[in-house]
Amino acid sequence: MKEILSAENLTKTYGKETVLNGVSLTVYENAFTAILGPSGSGKSTLLNILSGLTKPTSGQVICGGEIVSALPENKLADWKRAEAGHVFQNYLLLNNLTAEENIRIGVVPGKAPLNFDRLVKLLEIDGLLKKFPSQLSGGQQQRVAIARAVIKAPRLLFCDEATGALDEANSKKVVELLHMLKSTFGATILFTTHNAQIASTADRVITIKNGLIAGDRQNASPVKPADMVWG
Ligand SMILES: Nc1ncnc2c1ncn2[C@@H]1O[C@H](COP(=O)(O)OP(=O)(O)OP(=O)(O)O)[C@@H](O)[C@H]1O
Ligand SMILES: [Mg+2]
Repeated sequence: MKEILSAENLTKTYGKETVLNGVSLTVYENAFTAILGPSGSGKSTLLNILSGLTKPTSGQVICGGEIVSALPENKLADWKRAEAGHVFQNYLLLNNLTAEENIRIGVVPGKAPLNFDRLVKLLEIDGLLKKFPSQLSGGQQQRVAIARAVIKAPRLLFCDEATGALDEANSKKVVELLHMLKSTFGATILFTTHNAQIASTADRVITIKNGLIAGDRQNASPVKPADMVWG
């Protein structure tokens, strides 16, 4: 297993509230890691710090020998553009652009993109490219958002409750697709969720409680996404 990202003793406080209380972890390449925990436990905060969207109060995030969390804004923006893809619960598509235009926004100049046709076929959105977000279902919008995040072939894909707005069938499909992207394109996926079923499909499950890692285990026999039983 090759190390791709690590965090050392991360803390985050907002005013008097301590959200992260000293989190250290190492992320390995080409694995699907679920970050599990109850609402308010600090999952999004941790993910946003690991992905460079938020600065920690103290501690470090390291990638490729570089202290990402200490980079100045312009260098941090370069790192995010080159290495990190983001998928959010509420998709964040641009409403005045078609699905295809939204996806192509994710292409980074000077960095070879994934094959567009292959990607949209894999995500089963090849028939929807001329539609605008308002003309798409939630599951379709989430798949467009995933395509936008991965088209630049990021080494790291950060998904924050990426199925949080979807029904069971679409959630399964999105989780299945993320696993497929992992095996097809070698992506490393970090996925926050409060859904233990989704976590059961992961290679590794990190549990967050009270701003600390309360559990960290490899999943010896991950459940197939299609076999998830919804509670
Ligand atoms: N920008 C912010 N300003 C102040 N407090 C914040 C901010 N972001 C998060 N918090 C607080 O940090 C705590 C953890 O929030 P976080 O969003 O990380 O939780 P979460 O585990 O992702 O929860 P959920 O499952 O509901 O998404 C919460 O108590 C929240 O109110
Ligand atoms: Mg959250």
